[in-house]
Amino acid sequence: MKIGIALGTRPEIIKLAPIIRECEKRKLDYFVIHTNQHYSYELDKLFFDELELPQPKYNLECGFGEYRKHVGFMSKRALPILKKEKPDNMIILADTTSALGVALAAAKANLTMSHVEAGLRSHDTKMLEETNRIVVSHLSDYHFPPTEKARQNLIEEGVDEDKIFVVGNTIVDSVYQNIELAYKKVDMLNKLNIEKEKYFLLTAHRQENADDKERLNGILKGLELVYDKYKLPIIYPMHPRTKKMIDEFNLKIPDGIKILEPLSFLEFLQLEANAKLVITDSGGIQEETCILKVPCVTIRDNTERPETLEVGSNILAGAKPERILECVDVMFNKEKNWSQPFGDGTTSIKILDIISKLK
Ligand code: UD1
Ligand code: UDP
Repeated sequence: MKIGIALGTRPEIIKLAPIIRECEKRKLDYFVIHTNQHYSYELDKLFFDELELPQPKYNLECGFGEYRKHVGFMSKRALPILKKEKPDNMIILADTTSALGVALAAAKANLTMSHVEAGLRSHDTKMLEETNRIVVSHLSDYHFPPTEKARQNLIEEGVDEDKIFVVGNTIVDSVYQNIELAYKKVDMLNKLNIEKEKYFLLTAHRQENADDKERLNGILKGLELVYDKYKLPIIYPMHPRTKKMIDEFNLKIPDGIKILEPLSFLEFLQLEANAKLVITDSGGIQEETCILKVPCVTIRDNTERPETLEVGSNILAGAKPERILECVDVMFNKEKNWSQPFGDGTTSIKILDIISKLK
């Protein structure tokens, strides 16, 4: 059987790496299509190099564009490749423009499609990601939600129960496969001259935060309040979208925030595992902090990862300064006794076992 794997952004490379590794280990016939939605070295090639992944067989070179054109362009470029390769199963992850673009092409090419990290819902239809995930769900034949909650979302939308397999999230596989290496191979604490649990780690890149001046300013003001109170450095590897928008809005970075270029996965994991707490609007980082037992403050109004709120690893802070400080106060001395709901690190094995039996 032949498997196709689509990816295009940093989190897709990280979360699909365990599946690619497992395909290599099993000597399966597979190929990777990279849309190149993420194209800067530090969001793209860095991860192939560090995670020792083979180069993708196809690169669609769809680096940027207005959403509707970007989707169309990816789909158009992917279609002839998929028609030629005719994989027995096309794996699509989650909710990016790349996921939707390649899924549309796979549907046009009449391919069997498996959606990994299926069934997450923020119930916020203003997010492009929410539209992408719902459409990809309905184009897919098989669904691999990480949790029971995600499975329920799919059932509510009419997906056949016998096509759904709850398998956990491949991010657990990725964290488990790399955390030891993160301690052995990099030394970020020394490099940045910081000590374990004596700093905060920050990421912020979501369109609804970065492209909205009022929200972005609210987040920066909130961080100012946090630094004024705790006097702990806030380490911020900045996504290029946010860098561009901070310049465009002419916003001032408050004292205490140390801006870095985006980091490699090992560097980021090490900083994440040792942080006092993490402040983020990332999806994957809400999961990783839950797995690593590091408290998380999510600077969004909603989350498609409600499991993290339920177990108590995460809190929703929105983008208002006082609320951000209040949430940091709540999570600062949080007991780290939660159990993580995303699986035992064998998700990629489970997915490939199931897919192999489908044909
Ligand atoms: C995308 C995903 C988001 C995911 C994030 C992971 C969509 C709709 N959004 O958001 O769900 O959380 O990836 O990081 O798919 N840019 C660069 N270099 C790059 C990539 C982007 O400079 O390699 C800059 C460009 O100015 C670009 C902007 O960032 O216009 C936004 O990039 P884009 O890929 O559209 O969205 P992300 O914010 O990265
Ligand atoms: N990450 C990284 N370097 C960084 C910031 C994040 O390697 O400088 C990793 C992080 O460990 C996680 C993933 O990138 O696995 C999250 O990606 P991102 O926040 O860009 O996207 P999202 O998860 O929100 O879709």
